[in-house]
Amino acid sequence: MSGTVAQSELGFLLEPIVDDVRRAATLPGHAYRDGGFHEAVRERVLARAWHAFPGSPPERDGALVPWTLLDGCLDEPLLLAHDGAALRCLSNVCTHRGSLLVAEPCQARAIRCPYHGRRFSLDGRFVSAPGFDGAEGFPSQKDDLPALAHALWHGLAFASLAPAVPFEEWLGPLPERLRFLPLERACLERPGIRRYELAANWMLYCDNYLEGLHVPFVHRGLARALDLSRYNIELFTHGALQLGEASDGEPCFDLPVGHADYGRRIAAYYYWLFPCTMLNVYPWGMSINVVEPRGLAKTTVHYLSLVFDEALRGRGAGGDLHRVELEDQTVVHAVQRGVRARSYQHGRYAPVAEAAVHHFHRMLVNSVLRAPT
Ligand code: FES
Ligand SMILES: [Fe+2]
Repeated sequence: MSGTVAQSELGFLLEPIVDDVRRAATLPGHAYRDGGFHEAVRERVLARAWHAFPGSPPERDGALVPWTLLDGCLDEPLLLAHDGAALRCLSNVCTHRGSLLVAEPCQARAIRCPYHGRRFSLDGRFVSAPGFDGAEGFPSQKDDLPALAHALWHGLAFASLAPAVPFEEWLGPLPERLRFLPLERACLERPGIRRYELAANWMLYCDNYLEGLHVPFVHRGLARALDLSRYNIELFTHGALQLGEASDGEPCFDLPVGHADYGRRIAAYYYWLFPCTMLNVYPWGMSINVVEPRGLAKTTVHYLSLVFDEALRGRGAGGDLHRVELEDQTVVHAVQRGVRARSYQHGRYAPVAEAAVHHFHRMLVNSVLRAPT
């Protein structure tokens, strides 16, 4: 594919990313600094994506937890509610005149609007509304709180406003590849939840995550833990997997006979799911980067941990994650300044090492150019 596609209704010019990575040019600099592109990505990618809840979802009957989905970007007020039977993901906006319903995590037997007292059950159904005697055709289903697509996966909650793909399809080959791990007995670590604020575009954070080319230059410690000559990348429909093999003496998975990677000394599975979910799996457990695009040059990254072998923590590729994160943020901030330069147009991809960056950019641009359905 070639040629400039005029997206007059979007207010910017955008060319598809060439399919062949050996000939393709990277996402242009203006994609990281153009407000029109950011808005198109917000509506056509982020509003249709699955997003992980950056915390512990409610587990007890009557627990209510408000969640602003991508604060400053999508700005969608959601409410996670447990009604004893199941977790629900509801709109946190009253169906009367639009007041926010729940401001803080709390325990309740019903959801009551603080404005005019309308009540909803914990599964979102309308219960009562003071002053509505005489209203015709009222209440109707439209007075219930809209429920959103959501999923629970090993203690993590995910939601989507209008999912482009079903959750299971989005996960792709990940569950099968990780089936050997004791994820059922892993627990989400509450006190370990860590949060980082970046003055950078979220796509730069993903670009950096999706290649190991920078590891010897940016992460000296990690480079010692991994045998970079064996680092490799697999692409799948909705994401990418980077496999890091351990250096001699460094911890690696004890893989069962018959596993796709049996015989390899895997130190880390780095899974990325389009557009901004990262699941890093180490012998001690899973570290999840929940990436929240907050604005054109503002991103929040939450770290969650699912631990299944505390004894292996702190060693190898999954050891000093905070240090690696700060090293990554230094380069991401440097690129944020660089792509704003008028002199920067775009680059080229290292064909093997940056295959996943290319994959991400193709998915992103194709989603933006495709008319919404
Ligand atoms: S806005 Fe909620 S009852 Fe009026
Ligand atoms: Fe890195």
